[in-house]
Amino acid sequence: MKLIEKLMRDRILTKDEFVDLLSGTSDEDKEILRQEAVKLREKYYGHDVYIRGLIEFTNYCKNNCYYCGIRRDNRALERYRLTKEEILSCCENGYSLGYRTFVLQGGEDPWFNDDRMADIVSSIRAAYPDCAITLSLGERSVESYRRLKEAGADRYLLRHETANEEHYRKLHPEEMSLQNRKDCLYALKAMGYQVGAGFMVGAPGQTFECLAEDLIFLHDLQPEMIGIGPFLPHHETPFADENKGSFELTIFLLSILRVMFPNVLLPATTALGTIKATGREQGMLAGCNVVMPNLSPVVNRKQYELYDDKICTGDEAAECRGCLENRMASVGYHLVVDRGDFKA
Ligand code: 5AD
Ligand code: FES
Repeated sequence: MKLIEKLMRDRILTKDEFVDLLSGTSDEDKEILRQEAVKLREKYYGHDVYIRGLIEFTNYCKNNCYYCGIRRDNRALERYRLTKEEILSCCENGYSLGYRTFVLQGGEDPWFNDDRMADIVSSIRAAYPDCAITLSLGERSVESYRRLKEAGADRYLLRHETANEEHYRKLHPEEMSLQNRKDCLYALKAMGYQVGAGFMVGAPGQTFECLAEDLIFLHDLQPEMIGIGPFLPHHETPFADENKGSFELTIFLLSILRVMFPNVLLPATTALGTIKATGREQGMLAGCNVVMPNLSPVVNRKQYELYDDKICTGDEAAECRGCLENRMASVGYHLVVDRGDFKA
C-alpha cells in the first residue's frame, strides 16, 4: 500500500514512513493528498475562513532564541509595550471589523506578570463576552496559566518549535528546555484551554527526521490548532545568513496535517504570505481554514518583526481585512464573523 493511502486511512505513520513520505512523494501523489486535505477541510468547515485579530502587545523578550527577531540580544530594536487602554482600543477596532477572536501575543516579558495579564484578560472578557480570547505569551507557570484561564482566556498558542532534543539545542540557548515547553503544552491542554502547537519549516538544522518527530509529537498532543510557516531569516540574529524554508514543503506539510487532523484549526500564517505573495491563498488550497491578520497599532508593526520583510507592517487593520476578503474570494472561500471554535 502507498504511504499516502496509509496516511489517509490511519491518520498516522511510523517515523520511518513519515521520513519516506516527506522525502519521496511524487508530485502526482502530493496532488492527491492536497485534494484529500481540501475535501476534509470542507467537510468540517465548508468554505468558511476564520479570522483572528492578532494584537502584538509587547516586543520585550527575556529569551534569546537564535531565529527570532525580537530576541533579547537584538539591541537594534526599539522596544514597546501597549497599555491596557491601547490593547482594548485594538479590540474595539477589531470588533467593529468583524473579529470575534483576539490573540494577545508578545515576547516573554516579565512586566506582564500575572496581576497585569489577568487584569487585561478580564477587561477584554467583560467588554466582549461573545469573543474568544487567545493568549500567546510563551512559557509560564501552571499557576499563571490557571489564573489567566479563570480571568477568561479560552485558547493558548505555544509552538513547540521542534520535537527533537538535538535540533532544539541548535535553535535555543542553554537556559531553555524542550521538556519544559512540552510540559507547558500538556498542562494547558489538561486545564481545558484549546491549545495550538507548531513549528517552523526549514529552520536551520532541521532534517526530515525532525519533521517526522514533529508530526508524531502533534499526534500525541492532539492540539486544537496547529501553526506552521517557513523559517525566514532576520538580519539581527545569529541565523541572519541561513537559508529560508521551502514554500513547497510547507504546503505539503499543511496537507499532511489536515489529513492527520481532519477538524484541526489550521492557519495560513503570515510567514507563508511573506515567502510568497499568494502564500495564504495557496495555504487554503492545501487545507488551511484560518488567517490571523494584525490588529496592532501601525506605529508598532515594524517593531514586531520576527523575520525580515514581514508583510502588512504598513497596513491598517481595515485594509488587511479587505485585502484578505479579496484574496480568499479568489480561491473560493470567504471570511466569517464567528469565534471560530474547534469542531470536535
Ligand atoms: N521565521 C519564521 N518564523 C519565526 N518565528 C519566530 N522567528 C521566526 C523566523 N525567523 C515563529 C516561531 C514562533 C512564532 C510566534 O513565530 O515559531 O513560535
Ligand atoms: Fe522571544 Fe524567542 S526570542 S520568543
